Amino acid sequence: MEALIIYTSLTGNTQACADIVAEALEKLGVDVDVQDVYDSEVEDFYDYDLCLVGCYSYGGHGELPDEIMDLWEDLAEVDLHDKVYACFGSADDFYPIFGAAVEDFEAHFEKSGATKGAEGVKVNLNPEEDDEVRLTKMAEDIVNTYKHLNS
Ligand SMILES: Cc1cc2nc3c(=O)[nH]c(=O)nc-3n(C[C@H](O)[C@H](O)[C@H](O)COP(=O)(O)O)c2cc1C
Repeated sequence: MEALIIYTSLTGNTQACADIVAEALEKLGVDVDVQDVYDSEVEDFYDYDLCLVGCYSYGGHGELPDEIMDLWEDLAEVDLHDKVYACFGSADDFYPIFGAAVEDFEAHFEKSGATKGAEGVKVNLNPEEDDEVRLTKMAEDIVNTYKHLNS
């Protein structure tokens, strides 16, 4: 089983989440690649079974960061029906709309036909111990969903 995590991170919090998810997937025997969105395009997902996006929320009203807009728009246009996806991202509960980037990406993965493999995980700022537990569970869930679909 192979996984690609595409992420964007301004101050490192979402990147830390991506590292936790990658490590958890590797412990489950998954081959994992982690790519910055600047080095990525949506077609990169074609070569993987598990497709993950990590994205922080921005703009004061939960907007997506500029650098990930192309990926988000393209996601709605491709066919990923044989893939399983999960989304996560850091955010700040100071803002009235907390971590909306996660739902924005889930909506476009749904348009791609991919199957949701785990509940999205929103992390308040830097991931702490309880977040690590939730991100690790996300990794376990997406693997189990893929196995279930392909058994
Ligand atoms: C200008 C600005 C706007 C932000 N707007 C939101 C927002 O609307 N909702 C939210 O949940 N977090 C918002 N955040 C918080 C970031 O998502 C948070 O700092 C996150 O940890 C950044 O992740 P990163 O370290 O991966 O870049 C905003 C941060 C900045 C600097």
